[in-house]
Formats: sequence, C-alpha cells, structure tokens
Amino acid sequence: MFFDKLGIGLDKPDLNDLQDKLLEAKKKFIDEKLGFKRLPYEYETLKKDLDRVRKLTEQMDTIVVIGIGGSDLGTRAIQRAINGLYYNQKTTEDDRHSKNIYFSGDTTDPEAIAELLDVINLSKTTFFVVSKSGNTVEQASTFAYYRDLIIKKNLKPQDHFIFLTDGVTGTLRELATKEGYEAFEVPSDVGGRFSVLSTVGLIPAYLVGVDVEAMLKGAQDLDEEIKKSKDKMDDILEYVGLKYLYYKGGKNISVMMPYQYGLYEFAKWYQQLWAESIGKKVDLEGNVVHEGQTPVAAVGPVDQHSQLQLYNEGPNDKVLTFIRAEDSRKNIDLPEDYTGAEAFEFLKGHNFHELLNYEQETSAFSLTQNGRPNATLSIPKVDEYHLGQLFYFFEVAVSYFGNLININTFDQPGVELSKNAMYGVLGKKGFDEVKEAFDKYKSS
Ligand code: PA5
Repeated sequence: MFFDKLGIGLDKPDLNDLQDKLLEAKKKFIDEKLGFKRLPYEYETLKKDLDRVRKLTEQMDTIVVIGIGGSDLGTRAIQRAINGLYYNQKTTEDDRHSKNIYFSGDTTDPEAIAELLDVINLSKTTFFVVSKSGNTVEQASTFAYYRDLIIKKNLKPQDHFIFLTDGVTGTLRELATKEGYEAFEVPSDVGGRFSVLSTVGLIPAYLVGVDVEAMLKGAQDLDEEIKKSKDKMDDILEYVGLKYLYYKGGKNISVMMPYQYGLYEFAKWYQQLWAESIGKKVDLEGNVVHEGQTPVAAVGPVDQHSQLQLYNEGPNDKVLTFIRAEDSRKNIDLPEDYTGAEAFEFLKGHNFHELLNYEQETSAFSLTQNGRPNATLSIPKVDEYHLGQLFYFFEVAVSYFGNLININTFDQPGVELSKNAMYGVLGKKGFDEVKEAFDKYKSS
C-alpha cells in the first residue's frame, strides 16, 4: 500500500498524520453500543437454541435456508469456507456431513426454485425461513410456495418450517405465535449484514457440522485485543486508514480477492457489508455527501486470469485486498514422476498449496510493479476460528470506516425504498404512497 513499494501513492507519514482521527474512530467504536459486538460472547445462550434445533431437525436429511442479503450471504460464506463446494455430494458416513444444505429465497426466479425441488425430498426437509423483518417479499413468496407444496403432500407445515426472525415484530413472528411455528430470535439490535455470528448464520451452520463455538471464540479473541489496545493503532485501523486515504484520493473501488477457493462466498459477504454500510447519501449531520466505495468480489487464481488485466492496466481507481492462508487443511503434493510429460517437470517437488500462495504473491507483485495499491491479509488457515475472526475483522473495519467518513454505517435506506416499492406494487396495505410514485415513474 505504501510508496516505498509502489513508487507512487501514500507514504508512512500520511498515515501518521491521520493517527488522531483513526484513534478517535476506534474509540467511538469501542464506546458505541452495537449489538453485533455482543455476539462473540453469546455462545452459552446460543447453545440452548442449538440443542433445540438439533432435536427439531433430527428426522430430516436436508435443510433449506430461505433468506436474502444479510439473512443469507453470511451463512453461504460459512458453508462454502468450512464444508466446501461439493458438501452435498458427500456420503453420510463422513462425520462432517449429517444433512444436505441448500439455499433458496435469494431469488424469485422460478427456474431456480424448480431446480431445487428436483433434488430435495420435501418430507425430509426443514426450511429455515430467515428474515429479520419477517416481511421481505423474496422469503415470503418462497415460504408461501413451499408451504403450499408441503400441505398438498399432506404434511404438516409446522413440522417443516422454522423461522429465524425478530423476537417481537414482523409477519413471521405473528405467524409463529398464531400458527405454532417454531421460531428462533434474530437480535433486534443486530442489522442483517452484521448478523452472521448470530442465530442467522450459526443455527444452519451448526446443523451441517460447523464448530460454531470456535467461530465465536475467534471473533471474541479479536474483540478482546481491540479493547485491550484502546488507545493504540492496530492492524485493522492501519488497513482502514490506508483504504480511507486512498478512497479520498479517488480510489473508488475496493476489490476483495481471497485465494482460498472456499472464501469466494466470503468475498460476496464482504461486498454487501462494504456496499450497504458505507454507500450513503447523507452524513450524520444530514448533509448530502454521496459517500461509498464500490466493492468487488473476486477470487484467485480464477480472477487472476480475467480481472487482473484491468486491475493492472485499467484506471488506477482501486484498492485490492488479498486474503491468503499460510496452511491448508488438505495439502496435496504434485507428482514426482514426469516421464512422458517432461515439459512439466518444473512442477516436481512442489505442492498445490504452495502454488496457490505463489499465485497470490505474483499477483500482488504485478500490481505493485504497476503502482496499484494492494494489501495482503494473511491467516494461518481457513478454519472456524479464523473464519470467525475474518467476519469480525471486516465488521469492525467497516465500522471504523463509517466513523471516518461520518455516516450512519448501520442503516440501509436505499434498500428499504425498493423493498417498500415492491410491497406497493403487490398491493400490500400501507404502501399506497410509494405505489403512486412507482406508477408515475412507470407511466412517464
Ligand atoms: O443487510 C440488510 O439489512 C439486508 O440485506 C437484509 O438482510 C435483507 O434485505 C433481508 O432482510 P430481512 O432479513 O429483514 O428479510
């Protein structure tokens, strides 16, 4: 990220000049009452929910998560990082595998819904309807549809749906109370995109063998380090400070590019976090500011062979973050014998994990040669503990960033408008005004 490597850009003194502002942002974060900061410490409370949900799903072989945005992306990120792409194809003898997991509700594309129905057995499926507000159209419509199918199969919907929703408000909560659906609480003071370490991400993760206690412990250890060093600079603050300075200098795009294949969904989770949290029209005083840095999810080496051309030679308007793991849970050596394929003998003595990290380093090298700011975040390995830390790292980072640019990091009025318009279009009561505006827009 620094001039001594890039030949252009920021120098250490630039960051030093920002130090007071950074420490102020950290202090504000530590002092602020934010629901997501509590989550890493709540394993004991969560455990009761986990025991209950295990019993409720004992007879089922499949879970389907019906969620969207903050009610979906974190759970997907956990599943992909810890269990991998082919988890559902594994046999049940594998001790990590007890139930298949699928995701629905993040689209109303009927083809995607039909595709899911081709591979699940409804009578052995529990649908988790995850919606903090309990009202979102995508979850509501898919729930209504799957519920109807369950009824038509002469099954009892209450045996096949579990809600993760607000403890008091929202249609799902009302339904749970009125119709007797099991429901677990999504804490009201935790926003969707900050909810991965709550029931939202951890209940489904637990059912597919993820060590959710270790995830929380990872986040907790990081939180404790932050609190211990209240008045000191730390890695997150330095990372955010550099990103902020580059952003102010015109780097409007932030690329997240992990090299672990399993972290691709994590990059997508980051994309939502960064976009929704700092993309804001007004600052805390109500001035129109239009802040925001466009996040892009990439994964190496896949995107090294597609996007990297642009990153190296296109507009110098981005900061890149690489994530690499120093160790692999399953390393594989390359072969020793190249008889008949001598041209590839240069691979001898290497292993796949080594290749992966060289690929990351050579990408960082090429960017640096081209004067493109990039940071590398290194973790020991992709496991539950470090995944918990990664989630928390970026939740803290975006909170610091929001403090630096003086906006409300935790609201999403830009998403609400389209949600409300959708209710209006569908004729839901109480949304006449937005419907009128939408009709005017359509006919103009
Ligand atoms: O982060 C957010 O607030 C959004 O992405 C929401 O999570 C998303 O719109 C789904 O909302 P809900 O969980 O209320 O159905």
